[in-house]
Amino acid sequence: TFIETHSDLYAVMVAAARYYQQQLHQPVGREALAYLQRRGLSDTVIAEFEIGYAPAEWDGLLKALKVDSATLLQAGLLTEHESGKQYDRFRHRVMFPIHDQRGQVIAFGGRVLDDSKPKYLNSPETPLFSKGKELYHWDKVRKARALKRVVVVEGYMDVVALTQHHVTNGVATLGTATTPDHLQRLFRSVSDIVFCFDGDEAGRKAAWRTVETVLPLLQDGRQISFAFLPEEDDPDSFVRRQGTDAFNTYLDEALPLSQFLLNTLTQQVKLDSIEGQARLTELIRPYINQLPDGTYRELLLKNLKKLVPVDLKKSTTLKDIGKKTE
Ligand code: CTP
Ligand code: MN
Ligand code: MN
Ligand code: MN
Ligand code: MN
Repeated sequence: TFIETHSDLYAVMVAAARYYQQQLHQPVGREALAYLQRRGLSDTVIAEFEIGYAPAEWDGLLKALKVDSATLLQAGLLTEHESGKQYDRFRHRVMFPIHDQRGQVIAFGGRVLDDSKPKYLNSPETPLFSKGKELYHWDKVRKARALKRVVVVEGYMDVVALTQHHVTNGVATLGTATTPDHLQRLFRSVSDIVFCFDGDEAGRKAAWRTVETVLPLLQDGRQISFAFLPEEDDPDSFVRRQGTDAFNTYLDEALPLSQFLLNTLTQQVKLDSIEGQARLTELIRPYINQLPDGTYRELLLKNLKKLVPVDLKKSTTLKDIGKKTE
């Protein structure tokens, strides 16, 4: 019976976080602690992020918390087997508590200690947790003094490693693409967002998808850019290997959205031919149409006109171009 109130669930999540944290520092957590240390995490940052360990037991949490199983189930901390048997969802995993923007624990991400799958197991959707809304570490970042800019990365370890290396304004979308909800949440507090995804193909694709998500929200004064790391790196591996200054250089050299957009589309055509120029106008039209009216849109169009000397501003002209190339 799902009769628990939100305040009960919040209390359960805090208790669970405390339990996992304690386990990490018990003999049972030795392997997990060694794993985190091997990945370069300091005791300070492990404590700061309240990182814990879920032991390899079926009922560790159930026994420790003395909370009825219906509540734990609703909190997403237990899983129910078809047979009706209930057991701990997170077993033998390093545990990252996820806080909402008020700082309350609402979910967990759990990582295996080896190469087994799934690498990360996250809390399911619960009354406290909806995935496409939350950003890991946002509760802390938003409270920073004179916050100007946020760095959006893919993963927990990216945020934690960056923080340890004094890049304290990192937040992560939790295994989902960047959503309009995420962006609106960030834009309420900052106007400058840098996306720094993994250097691999998946990361580059995620960056391109983000362009489409962010365009309708690009009011004047908002600044979006994309930092591209070396192919083999993510922010965690990069900052550990190359250090803070090198990482900041990548951020400084981040491509503004307009440039990323033009570069990517221009690469798909041969601009020295009329066909290529027409194709570019066709490719870019849906993106331009997404932009709100304003100086930013005007400037983008002006710059485009340097590449393709056609007036893209009037949608009638756009339609004509479209028809002629069809
Ligand atoms: N993720 C997930 N479930 C998976 C794999 C990934 O939820 N099975 C999410 C996690 O939030 C993860 C992020 O996507 O942090 C990025 O994935 P990936 O780059 O594969 O992992 P890393 O963060 O680099 O993890 P690690 O460095 O620990 O290997
Ligand atoms: Mn906390
Ligand atoms: Mn990846
Ligand atoms: Mn990684
Ligand atoms: Mn990664």
